[in-house]
Amino acid sequence: MEREKTIINSLEWGKEISNREEKEKVAEKIASMVTDNDIIGVGSGSTAYLALLKIAERIRNEQLHIRAIPTSQEIKMACAKLGIPLTSLLEHKPNWTFDGADEIDFSHNMIKGRGGAMFKEKLLISSSPRTFIIADSSKMVSKLGSRFPVPVEIFPDALVHVDQALQSLSPVEIKLRMAQGKDGPVITENGNLILDVRFDNIPDNLENAIKSITGVIESGLFMHYEVLILSSEEL
Ligand code: 5RP
Repeated sequence: MEREKTIINSLEWGKEISNREEKEKVAEKIASMVTDNDIIGVGSGSTAYLALLKIAERIRNEQLHIRAIPTSQEIKMACAKLGIPLTSLLEHKPNWTFDGADEIDFSHNMIKGRGGAMFKEKLLISSSPRTFIIADSSKMVSKLGSRFPVPVEIFPDALVHVDQALQSLSPVEIKLRMAQGKDGPVITENGNLILDVRFDNIPDNLENAIKSITGVIESGLFMHYEVLILSSEEL
């Protein structure tokens, strides 16, 4: 196991995190909520990663037994590096979940998926009796869609069909997400493509309208989910 441990320990994250101080504050709060034997759904992104670091610290200091259900390979690897045992939705229901967001409006509707993990994130949030969304001040918006497009994960062969069907929802712009520094598109962990779709207006039924298009796996639009927002502004 020595070689495997060396290679996992060499993995590094979190060198460049925006609003780090604010994110540390909400991460600390999440870590303080962990109790022994919890099974926790862990979202993706830098805020979730910082919370994981703080949770790992508590596990070490207090000998807690927790298991994590990760929402991405990246978070799974981070858990491996931090020595946090993993489980899955096939084996366990989470007691609670925490995750980040890209935009949150006054009604707690959200856009997520800048990291492309929204399918698993939505699955975890839907499977969890309680979800905490941890957010720095940059995430709170008065109008959803004002900063970020809505990411839509699609089955690759459905690209043309979904693109055409999305037109009927009056988007301002539809862009195929491209891999940074490469000529090709981003391929998700599920082997799919992502369309980033910008809307001027996001009505209540938009999430369902997008989901009903054949070929759409999931979108990063979270309308009326029962989540508790932990914002750095309120801590
Ligand atoms: C990934 C997500 C993240 O939660 C969201 O992008 C926020 O990321 P960060 O905490 O790095 O600001 O939805 O799919």
